[in-house]
Amino acid sequence: MISLHDRVRAVVWREDALELLDQRRLPDTVVYRRLTVAAEVAGAIRGMVVRGAPAIGIAAAYGVVLAARARYAEHPDRWRERITADLAELAAARPTAVNLVWALRRMERVIAQTAGDPAERLLAEARMIHEEDIAANRRMGELGAALLGERGAVLTHCNAGALATGGYGTALGVIRRGYEAGLVERVYADETRPWLQGARLTAWELVRDGIPVTLLADGAAAALMSQSAVRWVIVGADRIAANGDVANKIGTYGLAVAARHHGVQFMIVAPASTVDMSIASGAEIPIEQRAAEELLTLGGQPVAAAGTEVWNPSFDVTPAALVDALVTERGVVLAPDAAKMARLMAE
Ligand code: MRU
Repeated sequence: MISLHDRVRAVVWREDALELLDQRRLPDTVVYRRLTVAAEVAGAIRGMVVRGAPAIGIAAAYGVVLAARARYAEHPDRWRERITADLAELAAARPTAVNLVWALRRMERVIAQTAGDPAERLLAEARMIHEEDIAANRRMGELGAALLGERGAVLTHCNAGALATGGYGTALGVIRRGYEAGLVERVYADETRPWLQGARLTAWELVRDGIPVTLLADGAAAALMSQSAVRWVIVGADRIAANGDVANKIGTYGLAVAARHHGVQFMIVAPASTVDMSIASGAEIPIEQRAAEELLTLGGQPVAAAGTEVWNPSFDVTPAALVDALVTERGVVLAPDAAKMARLMAE
């Protein structure tokens, strides 16, 4: 059910095809792209038509349905071996968000158990991954909002909203629930260079929901904190290591440092599907490097001197020691460390 403060779906399965809200076109244009083959889904993930860790995983799961349909039609006896190329292409689309391979592994387990035409069982699994994500976000919204304490303003970075998930959002789920409960007065949204997810996506979601939002340049966040203007920084995650280190959109680490310096609390909100217990620390998280053009141009116009070299990591790693609260649908971990993460994930 879509409630008042959650009006958009980025990923939709409709009439035997995957429809993705083209997030490159927001906020000007709301248009869905209809995809019917798995390679298009991998391309859409690579090209940022769909983005945000959980949404990428959900889109990939539906991509497997499209792949299975094509491979089974091609060769009903050999579809299982042929689909491995599609799974590999989907898995390679983006490296940092672990939700992508997590969702593909779930689909692979169904593939291994399925005899005959796999389309229906795989579609059921993809839908389940999608529905479970929305339910997890609702639960995290409750758990995270319960931590907020006194009414005040919060700061968020990138987009961890309905657009980045199956619906409702992780960090924005907590903010939506906190706003409903009267605990969030205003949301400060970093614009989030270079893709401007904060300006184009988070502000768009919040304005649509009637939640007061103030946009700021990424470089203004520390100054905002120095004025005691925010009580919490609330962000999502792309991958969380076994010791609680967190990879998220580039700029998150700097926010965590500034938050600790100014006595502002720092909250990570992410489903258990974002936790990667196979890696000991954030040092092992693969960080996506993206094209130089993303920094050299803005809206297609050059903004840097010709010949400038570029460093453009899409994510950074915040050490667990800077995280005050990690909210998952399994529960809240305060001041996460390896022992607490192991307990959380064992439950
Ligand atoms: O490059 P993006 O837009 O996919 O990066 C997204 C983020 O960093 C989000 O904060 C993260 O995926 C959490 S989304 C619930």
